[in-house]
Amino acid sequence: MNEIAVAVESLRNGGVVAFPTETVYGLGADARNEDAVRSVFSIKGRPADHPLIVHLGGADRAEKWAASISGTAKSLMVHFWPGPLTLVLPARDDVPRVVTGGQDSVALRVPNHPVALELLQAFNGGLVAPSANRFGAVSPTEAKHVRSSLGDQVDLVLDGGPCHYGLESTIVSLLDDCPRVLRPGALPLSALRVVLGRDGIEFSERPATLPRVPGALLKHYAPATPLEIIAGNMLAFHSAALMVRSLRVAVLRYHGKSLDRHIPARQFFLPDEPEGYAHGLYAILRELDNLGFDHLLVEAPPQEEVWWAVNDRLARAARGSQLTV
Ligand code: TXA
Ligand code: MG
Repeated sequence: MNEIAVAVESLRNGGVVAFPTETVYGLGADARNEDAVRSVFSIKGRPADHPLIVHLGGADRAEKWAASISGTAKSLMVHFWPGPLTLVLPARDDVPRVVTGGQDSVALRVPNHPVALELLQAFNGGLVAPSANRFGAVSPTEAKHVRSSLGDQVDLVLDGGPCHYGLESTIVSLLDDCPRVLRPGALPLSALRVVLGRDGIEFSERPATLPRVPGALLKHYAPATPLEIIAGNMLAFHSAALMVRSLRVAVLRYHGKSLDRHIPARQFFLPDEPEGYAHGLYAILRELDNLGFDHLLVEAPPQEEVWWAVNDRLARAARGSQLTV
């Protein structure tokens, strides 16, 4: 039996299978099997009222989950599915409320990854798939991340290599008149505007006003090492101030042409454009955790719209880490 067939059999028996998507790895279970869904919540340590995304093998399956699909929803599906866009729609009555966290809406997505699509099409049903990490932690972008943190709690980890985007899907709610972004993500706002028009999408910079979604919690996507976001020209000062207190400090910079000799701390680099940065961010945060630094200073990326999802995740990862100088 090939791996997909083994995975499908496990899912049919209520098992939990981690699988790759183009955004991050997901923790998959049969969305119609309430016990299987509950085991996903318990493996993640996720509160039961935080809803899960139902992943589908094609847009034609959406009507089995959504009570109604508006013209706007259809055109977003046509343009962006399969792809890193999750749509929140009114849920059909038969959608298990354990999936939706008790809400009457359901989040749907068709991932654009050959392994995910093969699995979903062979399974021929919906799979819940939260990011395959413990609640609040950094999402996995490689199979080895899943194996090291949750490997002994899942039945199988399908390996599809490193995820293309490395950052979660963009979530858009279609419950109100105007589509609204609930979570910035891999699909840029500019792409949504091409389909919806300049003013056709609402985006709030203030996550505290959003409905309850784990990604909207203030501290989330966080590494174990305390993390602060610091303007580039202040990195030398802040790292020196921490190091005189014998703290082991790492600095994560984004325009990585050369080492800055004024910065006394060890320097790590991510690309200076948002796609490359997002692709490497979670993996480097994990690596830095493993290296045992006491403190991580992240050079603030530009406050430009193309950096929206990166800035969102960094801000949440930093929340709760006190400025110590
Ligand atoms: O890229 C992704 O979306 C990844 C991959 C694996 O597909 N999945 C992911 O799932 O990030 P998770 O569970 O970590 O985040 C799902 C988000 C949560 O913030 C959740 O609250 C929100 O989707 N969500 C799910 N159902 C919802 C609903 N009915 N209304 C509002 N938000 C919802
Ligand atoms: Mg998550």
